[in-house]
Amino acid sequence: MKLNLKIWRQAGPNAKGQMVDYQIDGVESDMSFLEMLDLLNENLIAKGEEPIAFDHDCREGICGMCSLYINGEAHGPDRLTTTCQLHMRRFKDGDTITIEPWRANAFPVIKDLIVDRSALDRIQQAGGYISVNTSGRTVDANNIPIPKKDADMAFDAATCIGCGACVATCKNASAMLFVSAKVAQFALLPQGRIEAAKRVQDMIAMMDAEGFGSCTNTGACEVECPKGISLTNIAILNKEFLLAQAK
Ligand code: SF4
Ligand code: FES
Repeated sequence: MKLNLKIWRQAGPNAKGQMVDYQIDGVESDMSFLEMLDLLNENLIAKGEEPIAFDHDCREGICGMCSLYINGEAHGPDRLTTTCQLHMRRFKDGDTITIEPWRANAFPVIKDLIVDRSALDRIQQAGGYISVNTSGRTVDANNIPIPKKDADMAFDAATCIGCGACVATCKNASAMLFVSAKVAQFALLPQGRIEAAKRVQDMIAMMDAEGFGSCTNTGACEVECPKGISLTNIAILNKEFLLAQAK
């Protein structure tokens, strides 16, 4: 397959960026999107040109690093699929593919396609944990009865990989879906109730401090989320926040 690529190049955080055109040949349909970029970088290096910087780690949909805007969609055209799990069979010979970094004030570009998503880490550090009694008399977690529905919802919320696609795709650059997943995964379980009020207030305060926008219930985040995190979690977040404020 031969492809035309339009890729965002930016030498550093304060440099002016621009779209640059590349042609690539020999792309196999079985290649992943990141393997296609690897091939392009090998070609650039062979020509003595600067390779394109892009983020990745697990390449199996777990780490949330492969944050790319492909043809105007976060993680590209497939639903419930991270960029690393997107395959080139989704494209056809002669296609033009536009590749950009996440665009949000809270995610400044570091270089080319790599953005700084540490704002999400700081939100997580503000409250995304529980305190566990490790005195030796700890109740085995399996001995605490939890309704199946709650356990399933908590597990689903916990599948958020912190990729930031919800932020990148939101017209307000809101991080509400991410924060709601991180709050709901604990709020639904007894182990998470102890610090529930403090957690939701601290995480929302950090979200605001990091410069994310407000949620206007557009729902684009849910559509583009590669892990299918539901808007229901935002309802849980709002309920938790109101309860905490009323205390
Ligand atoms: S909610 Fe979805 S899109 Fe947002 S960070 Fe988590 S996995 Fe990524
Ligand atoms: S590289 Fe880890 S989720 Fe894509």
